[in-house]
Amino acid sequence: MDTEKLAAAARALVTPGKGILAADESSGTIKRRFDSINAESTEDNRRNYREMLFRTDDIEAWISGVILYDETARQKGVDGTPLVRLLSDRGIVPGIKVDKGTQPLAGSPGELITEGLDGLGQRLAEYYEMGLRFAKWRAVITVGEGIPTPYCIEANAHALARYAAVSQHAGLVPIVEPEVLMDGDHGIDDCYAATKATLQETFAQLSRQGVALAGMLLKPNMVVSGSSASNRADPATVAAMTVECFKQTIPAAMPGVVFLSGGQTDNEATVNLNAINVEAAKVGVPWALSFSFGRGLQSAPLKAWGGKAKQAPAAQAAFKLRARLTSAAQLGKYTPDMETQSVTV
Ligand code: 13P
Repeated sequence: MDTEKLAAAARALVTPGKGILAADESSGTIKRRFDSINAESTEDNRRNYREMLFRTDDIEAWISGVILYDETARQKGVDGTPLVRLLSDRGIVPGIKVDKGTQPLAGSPGELITEGLDGLGQRLAEYYEMGLRFAKWRAVITVGEGIPTPYCIEANAHALARYAAVSQHAGLVPIVEPEVLMDGDHGIDDCYAATKATLQETFAQLSRQGVALAGMLLKPNMVVSGSSASNRADPATVAAMTVECFKQTIPAAMPGVVFLSGGQTDNEATVNLNAINVEAAKVGVPWALSFSFGRGLQSAPLKAWGGKAKQAPAAQAAFKLRARLTSAAQLGKYTPDMETQSVTV
């Protein structure tokens, strides 16, 4: 295992002002996204939509990497260029979702376990050959009455560490994603507690299974109130509690955090990312705090596209704006008036 090479690749993904576009929605998830704009989820439509995002002018100024789904990693663009090469030719690192989704966790109603470890080494060897350089695995932790249980947290953390070790041995940087869901009416304190317990166990398992912390990135949730909570915490509280939670749990040897947006609106995710970076600059933290947004970057372009080829310029403009604003938030330099300014690199 070439730890130094993995560490350099991990650091490059969190270059200041840059972050990751998560475009790795599974077939079921992308169908739900397309349903929301009344577009049919065909293989060609999925390719056209994603190729349109990847060809947007100037995005390499703000986007360091893109997470792909297996289907996309094997697709070619309209001119015959493989989409993986289209990205790497632009200096954007292509990565891949490698988990196989969630199943109910046996013996623990309401909780989930992520599957996909069988045959993972062989799949990753092929992905490396295809030019992919990082790999994402998403574990899901649900907050509710009596959950998450220590059993669920431990089972998911164990699988995350197993996948991370296999990834590093295959030469791909693991993007370790333990997502504490924001679904529910719980307060921010419950999210803090679940996130803290999850990160503690995740790093314990990563350590036990010999994962090189310098050669990975963490993709966590922000510490936020439940999406249907009556009093949702403001950005300053989200920032203070997120940074505090991380200081309690994330070793300094791990180079970067790339947040998921997790169902926050794009604006909310941007404002919170900005507040977190402002707070981090104030208190001092050892890790980059960046983004790996799916919906946070794609909601606006998806809506602008609406499944119509003639809408591509509007969709690309919307994507470019979100990428630039999210980058500004990564630097703690986002201001609301930027939402209406024209985009320049
Ligand atoms: P969201 O930003 O939409 O949560 O997606 C990120 C992701 O990759 C989830 O696995």
